[in-house]
Amino acid sequence: MFSVKELVESSTTMSVPSNYVCHKTPEDSMLYYETENIPTIDFHQLTSSNPNERSKAIQQLGDACRDWGFFMVINHGVSETLREKVLREGQSFFDLSKEEKMEFAGEKILDPIRYGTSFNVMVDKALFWRDYLKCLVHPHFNAPSKPPALRETVEEYMRKGKEVVEELLKGISLSLGLEENYIHKRMNVELGCKVFVINYYPPCPKPELVMGLPAHTDHGLLTLLQQNQLGGLQIQHKGKWIPIDPLPNSLLINTGDHMEILTNGKYKSVVHRAVVNTKGTRISVGTAHGPNLDTIVDPAPELVGDDNPALYRSITYRDYILLQQNNELDTKTCLERIR
Ligand code: SIN
Ligand code: FE2
Repeated sequence: MFSVKELVESSTTMSVPSNYVCHKTPEDSMLYYETENIPTIDFHQLTSSNPNERSKAIQQLGDACRDWGFFMVINHGVSETLREKVLREGQSFFDLSKEEKMEFAGEKILDPIRYGTSFNVMVDKALFWRDYLKCLVHPHFNAPSKPPALRETVEEYMRKGKEVVEELLKGISLSLGLEENYIHKRMNVELGCKVFVINYYPPCPKPELVMGLPAHTDHGLLTLLQQNQLGGLQIQHKGKWIPIDPLPNSLLINTGDHMEILTNGKYKSVVHRAVVNTKGTRISVGTAHGPNLDTIVDPAPELVGDDNPALYRSITYRDYILLQQNNELDTKTCLERIR
């Protein structure tokens, strides 16, 4: 069976096939239910012409990146209509026939369009309860030609997301004591690699046995995430798993591996995962904003010193992504591999 959606639709039992059963360790189940609220950044304040307001927001942004690596952005200007549209169009892609979707199937991490299932079928030991569509949307735009409105919707969503991400990168540069275009220039974000992902998690009869997305960190600088009304995202914070319940209308942002490398570990790339439920299909849309694929990423010299030596070796973004493609989850992470 290629996709979890088809598996669920064709199944007549309430059981989960054994190749989807994840063997969880006690740490995997260590949930912290008293949900701590992750920080909120007000985009109005971050882009305010009032210097006091802006510097307060920059300080909050720096604190959020350092202490959490995950935060919500409010007043971001990405309309509710557009956010709903992208979730709806995403759903319609998965509602295409199997044959239509298979035109876009791919396995390699740098395939321009890749419809697939699980996390990384090349190395996964157990399958995960997720189907996905990934498109490389920048510097060259790729998206499936079906359903008809998908391409245009993704383009518009990326355009609006870019405005948010560019301001966040400016604020993050300033929060590190660097000039505001520092990250933009050093990472060649103008020609940066951007990935658009729709995750489709069908309901599962035994959610406790499976995992939607296993614990991982994101490559790239920043990921922007939104989901339909069904939650399931959990992040690791101070050794506990915290379920994330974002404010309505907010966008969730997390710092990626390349932010951790660039800041020499000051801003961490946070481990997160997605669990599934019995109630309904969870859909999330993530957009990863990274450096240009040929950019060599290493700790910024301004953030390295005698008492703070570089923690990571230099590697191009492309080679890092290829390393991830071959990396087994239960061994070292890619970040550990370049230490
Ligand atoms: C992801 O980590 O890429 C997606 C997580 C989610 O579905 O919330
Ligand atoms: Fe992720």
